Order: sequence, then structure tokens, then C-alpha cells
Amino acid sequence: MSVKINTLELENVKRIRAVQLTPAANGLTIIGGNNNQGKTSVLDAICWLLGGNKYQPSNAQREGALTEPMLRCTLSNGLVVERKGKNASLKVIDPQGNRAGQKLLDGFLSELALDLPKFMQASDREKADTLLRIIGVGEQLVQMEQEEKRLYDQRTAIGQIQQQKAKFAAELPRWEELPNEPVSAAELIAQQQEILARNGQRQQWQHEMQSIDIAIQNITSEIQRTERQLADLRAQLDEFQEKAASAHKTPEELQLESTAELEQSIADIDRVNAKIRDNQRKAAAEQEASEYKNQYDGLTDQIEKIRADRRTLLNGANLPLPGLSVESGRLLYQGKAWDCMSGSEQLRVAVAIVRCLNPECGFVLLDKLEQMDMQTLADFWKWLEANGLQAIATRVSTGDECSIIIEDGWAQNAPAPVPYQPATGYVPGWNKTKEG
Ligand SMILES: Nc1ncnc2c1ncn2[C@@H]1O[C@H](COP(=O)(O)OP(=O)(O)OP(=O)(O)O)[C@@H](O)[C@H]1O
Ligand SMILES: [Mg+2]
Repeated sequence: MSVKINTLELENVKRIRAVQLTPAANGLTIIGGNNNQGKTSVLDAICWLLGGNKYQPSNAQREGALTEPMLRCTLSNGLVVERKGKNASLKVIDPQGNRAGQKLLDGFLSELALDLPKFMQASDREKADTLLRIIGVGEQLVQMEQEEKRLYDQRTAIGQIQQQKAKFAAELPRWEELPNEPVSAAELIAQQQEILARNGQRQQWQHEMQSIDIAIQNITSEIQRTERQLADLRAQLDEFQEKAASAHKTPEELQLESTAELEQSIADIDRVNAKIRDNQRKAAAEQEASEYKNQYDGLTDQIEKIRADRRTLLNGANLPLPGLSVESGRLLYQGKAWDCMSGSEQLRVAVAIVRCLNPECGFVLLDKLEQMDMQTLADFWKWLEANGLQAIATRVSTGDECSIIIEDGWAQNAPAPVPYQPATGYVPGWNKTKEG
């Protein structure tokens, strides 16, 4: 069971003349009153009484008081804690009547429960660290965040390179209807030489035919000239006519082929190859840009995963208040950073976290609760009750939500606190009747 304040008696501390208070064990006990009447002095006195000498007010004794300050409280664990006398020295008595000291009190007190502003004024990182310490996933979360940042930076760098590469690729020219690889001049020259070789053969045939024709003419004239050699010459003639028949070629076969086209290709080769190299460069640049794009997308997937893992880790943790999380070393509540939370949200977050810091400490002190409207106050009250937490708060108000009104250092009314009744839609204090 966490320790709570059962009763409180104060005399001649700071602005207080005499105040007695029986705070509700759970929920809110509001100390009301106008400005400068001594409300905060009650909280200061509790701090001093329980928190020790470091909380001693510089002007602890009320000015004009005829007697020394007296502070006394009874706690739910049976301890009686008292300060009184010339030095306002501490006296702690346990239920068996034994004396104890500050050390025993420190065992179940939470420093931040006495001094909530200390938490509220801490930096964003300190608040986040406090939460992580409570839920015990701080180290894992820090590692995840570092990993996420590393991937994020890497992705940013890759993204920049990818954009440069894509821009470079877009600026390079592309030539249509060309082969993918540069044309080889040697191949064209070889083709040309083949044709020239064939043409040589054809020319040779032509020369042969011409000489055969001459022979026929000579032989014919020889026949006419010499009848004696006619038979021989006829035989020779037949022979040569036979040769002529086998050596005969069609005009198409004798047609010489043109190398003009290949000559033009050879002449164009440098120009064409320059374009082909352009195309190759563009394709390579596009390929590179697309590889960087793939890397970028891969990193995006990794970042999404690590974010999801972090959400899972926090969702699985035992949070002091649903909706709390930590991102980039900052405490968030329902996605909002501290400076974007309303004052009442800040209070609720602070109380929830401080409560978890030392579960033994069952109470928390809250100054200046006037920032909560009545409905927010009722919700907060309900939440405190549900969490078994005692809150002793001040509020500039003399309304019925107050358990006690302080006027000129005196407790004016101290009706018994009315418990919150959610079923009737009751708003704290509204149906209480004031007593004289
Ligand atoms: N030892 C003291 N003796 C007499 N008055 C004191 C002493 N110490 C502080 N005061 C006076 O008490 C007043 C403040 O008291 P306290 O802070 O308790 O009031 P409060 O009701 O909380 O006021 P507020 O609504 O403005 O917060 C100041 O006027 C301050 O000068
Ligand atoms: Mg005050």
C-alpha cells in the first residue's frame, strides 16, 4: 500500500495562522481561497515537514506570530511526523512508539511528488528519460532511434545521388534505330574485300572469254587460209567451242557489285559510333539511377519497419498513462510535445509519471490548479481515484469544489470531502453545502 497523508495540522508557518486538514485518501483535496491567503504556504509546510531541511522556508515562522511554528501529520503507514519548538526539529514516531528520522521518510517519499514543478520545468529530454526509466525500455528505444536516424541519413544521401543520376541520365541524348553495340570497321572492310575478290574472279572470267573469242577468230581465218589443216583445226575448233560452252556466264553473273553503300558506312562509322556510345552512356546512367532508386526504396522500408517496431515496443510497455510515448528523445502525450499540451494535460502527465517513480508514495502536491475547468477537474479527480492517488492541491477559488478555504491564514470551512460520483454526473464540490 502506498503511503498517504491522513491528517494535517499547521500553525504559524509562513502565511498560515492555523489550518487543519483531513485529505481524502483518493482523489483531490482542494485548498481554495483568494490570492495571498496562505494556500501555497500549506503545500510549502508539507514539503518541509516531510521532505526535510532542504525544503525549510527562509522565513518559516509567520511574522507577528506569538508562538513558534507547529507542523504535524499522521500518515497511512501509522507514522506521526512533527516539527515544533525553537528549532522546529523533526520528530518521527512509528506505530510502536519508536523514534525514527528523515531517512525513514525518504524511503517512501518521492521528491518530485513534493516538488512537481521540478518535473514540469525539466527539459523535454529529461522528461522523456524519466518516462523511459520507469517503463524500462529506454536503452532499446535509444538504439532504435539511433538506427532510424542512421537509416534516415543514409536514405537522404542516397536520395540526393539518385536525383543527380536521374537528372544526368535525362540530359543525355538518345538516337533511334541504331544497334546496341558500335559497328566494327574491320567487318565492313572484310565484306568489301570479299566483294572485290568476287569481282576479280569475274574479271578473270571476262578476260578468259575474250581470249577464247580471239582464238575462235584466228582459227576460223586459219580454216579459210589452209584447207589442209581444216580437220585439225575443226577438232581444235570443237575443243575450243566446248570450252567456250563451259566457261559461259550469264550477264547477271557478270554484273559487277557496288561497294558504294559500304564505303558510305565506313565513312559514317565514327559519327554512328559516337551516337551509339551516347546511347550506351544513357542506358548506363539510367541503370545507375534505378539502382539508387531501389536502394532508396529499401531504406524507406527499413525506416518504416523500425518505426513500427518502436511503436510496438512502447505499446507493449507498461505506460503510466495511455497515450504517452517518446520520439526523438521527446516525451509525447497523444502525439503532442510538452509545449503543445494544455496546462491540465501537462499536470496529468506529470502526476502520472511522478507517481510511477516511487509507487510507495501515495500522494502528490499540486499548486495552482485553477487552470483546470470544472469538467477537467472532475475527470482528473476520477482518474486520481481510479489510480488510488491522493492529490493535495491549491486553487484560487472559493467554490464548492474546495475541501477547505483559507482566509488570512485560517482554515474557514472544512467540510468532509464529498466523493466523486461518476454515475450521477456529479462535478466535484457542486452539490456540497457550505458550513458556517
Ligand atoms: N513568514 C511569513 N509571515 C507572514 N507572511 C508571509 C510569510 N512568508 C510569506 N508570507 C506572505 O504570504 C503571502 C503568500 O502566501 P501564499 O503563497 O501561501 O498565498 P496563496 O494563497 O498561495 O496566494 P496566491 O493565490 O497568489 O498563490 C505573500 O504575501 C507573502 O509575503
Ligand atoms: Mg499560491
